[in-house]
This record gives sequence, C-alpha cells and structure tokens, in this order.
Amino acid sequence: MKTQLENIYKSAKADIEKAQSISDIDEIRLKYLSRKGEFNSIKKGLKDLSDEDKRTVGALANQITQDLEALLKEKHEIFYQKELNEKLQHDRIDITLSGKYLPEGKVHPITSTTNEIVSIFQNLGFSVISPELSPEVETEYYNFDMLNVPHDHPARDVQDTFYLKDIPNGVLRSQTSGAQIHVMETQKPPIKVIAPGRVYRNENINSRKNNFFHQIEGLYVDKGITFGDLKGVLNEFIRLYFGSARPTRFRSSFFPFTEPSAEVDVQCIMCQGKGCRTCSGTGWLEVLGAGMVDVNVLKGVGIDPEIYSGFAFGMGVERLSMLKYAIDDIRLFFNNDKRFLEQF
Ligand code: PHE
Repeated sequence: MKTQLENIYKSAKADIEKAQSISDIDEIRLKYLSRKGEFNSIKKGLKDLSDEDKRTVGALANQITQDLEALLKEKHEIFYQKELNEKLQHDRIDITLSGKYLPEGKVHPITSTTNEIVSIFQNLGFSVISPELSPEVETEYYNFDMLNVPHDHPARDVQDTFYLKDIPNGVLRSQTSGAQIHVMETQKPPIKVIAPGRVYRNENINSRKNNFFHQIEGLYVDKGITFGDLKGVLNEFIRLYFGSARPTRFRSSFFPFTEPSAEVDVQCIMCQGKGCRTCSGTGWLEVLGAGMVDVNVLKGVGIDPEIYSGFAFGMGVERLSMLKYAIDDIRLFFNNDKRFLEQF
C-alpha cells in the first residue's frame, strides 16, 4: 500500500510538472485529491490494516496529500500571475490619451429668455398665438393703422421703420403689437394670449440698440378687465422673472393703441435703487410698456367696448436678458462669438 501511495505521488508530481495552465492544475486536483480521486480510494483501504500500519500508512498518506496540495498551490499561483499578465497586456488602455472632444450645442440666450418669459405667462393662463397671426413682414395696416397710430406719427418715418419696396404698404414690423390685431380679427373674447417674435427698426447700431431685436406682446380681452388686472399680472411676471423682493413702479406714459398707458420700471438690479450707470442714476430700469386697449382699437376689430375691455403689454427680450445676466452690449447676442454663447 505504501508503494501504491508512492507511485500515485510520483505520477501526480509528474503531471503537475507537465501542467500548462490553471485548468490543467484544476484537472490534476480533481484526478488525485478529490473525493472520487485516487488518494481517497486508497485511504478507504486503511481500515483493513493493523493499527500500527494504519498509523504509518495514514501518516504517509496525509504527508503526500499535503505535499501535493502545496505543489498545486505553487503552480496555480504561477499560472495565475502569468494569465493575469497576459490579460493585462492584451486589454491595456492608455489612460494618458486625450478623449474625443464632442462639441455641445447650447440654447441661444434670446431663445432661453423667451422660453422662460413664455412659460411664466403660460402659468398665468396665457397661450402662445400661432405664428401665422404674428408675421414679421407686415403692412402699415397692421403695424400702424389698426393700432391707432396717426399718419403723421414719427414712428412711421423711414428713419424708424423699414419699408418694403416690392409689397404695397409693406413694412418689416417695428413692434409685435400688430399681432394683437390679427388675433382680435380672428378670435372672439375672452382672448388671453402672448406673441413672441422679432421686430425691426432703422436704428444706428450701438451697445444698446440693434436694427432688429425681439419682443413679447401680451393681450388680455374679456368682460370687466381693469387696470388692476394689468398691474396684478405684470407685477407677478416681474416677481417671477427677477425674484420676489424687487419693487416695481408704474409710470404714466403714452402709446397710440392703449389708454391709459404706462411704462413699468423695476428697481435697478445693479445698485438696488441707489443710482448707478446702468440706471443712469435714477435707481429704476424700464422693462415694459403697457396699457388698457384703446377703445378705437377695439372698435376697429369689431369688439364692442361697451361690453369688453382689455389690457396689452410689450417687452423687449434683449433688454430683459441683459438685465438678468448683466450683459452690457446688445450686439453680443448677434455676432455669434462662441466665447459669449458658451456661457449660457
Ligand atoms: N409696442 C410697444 C413698443 O414697441 C409696446 C407696447 C405694447 C405698449 C403693448 C403698450 C401695449 O414700444
């Protein structure tokens, strides 16, 4: 039995020497040392031996098992390291290589400011009119006549308005207020809409003026609409757009299509009302024009001013965006400098 054990030991050792991989090692362990392995079948024979032999042969069997375990472990470690190294070589990633730069698109600040203002008014119950009611190419009829703008009004001057050669009485709209007329011509009150869009004026371009810019027009016509409603809606808009603690001021003003009219100021966001360059020392910034829809305008579109009243307002998107983000030159919006646009 001793020789049997030694023979198995020898052949196991030879197998281990020949082994090439972890899976070879696993096979050898299975063949010799597992429960169904060769050693175990011999160990089962131990019970037929004399006590004395049991001890010596048993000790030898244990010794051999331990030796084989040690050899297997050693080989296993060698192959494990070898296979690991091969895998690392093969799967190597050079983390010092720079990544691929994927340019990321940004929403233009005029678009994001417009979206923000639109969503504030949507939350106040206004809906956005469809684009065909708010064309950029207008006629004097919508841009001026129906808005009660007199024929000799200076705003009609070629110095202020772009006239179109090929369209009779055609103009590039100088304000979004024409959209009011389109809506009231096609819809009956209650009307509660906003119209965002681009307008054009024949200006000398500087840091505060461009020859096109963007406005958002608002119109609310129903029974019993008052100046109090106008103040409530616009104060709420300013609160939501500029933040809660900003005081507002309604200054009496004039627009041909509203009566009474007002210009709305917010306390200067730069100096908190103390007076600075941005607010020309006044402590206030004008942010929009507004008023009760003029009786003549209502009559013009066939809405009975004895039954209905309404308010309208118009605001400049660039101006509101410049105030909120402390942008000091309107031209930055339009010269497509990525260093500016990337910040939004
Ligand atoms: N259309 C006016 C402007 O461009 C603003 C305005 C709109 C005023 C509606 C009153 C009512 O200055």
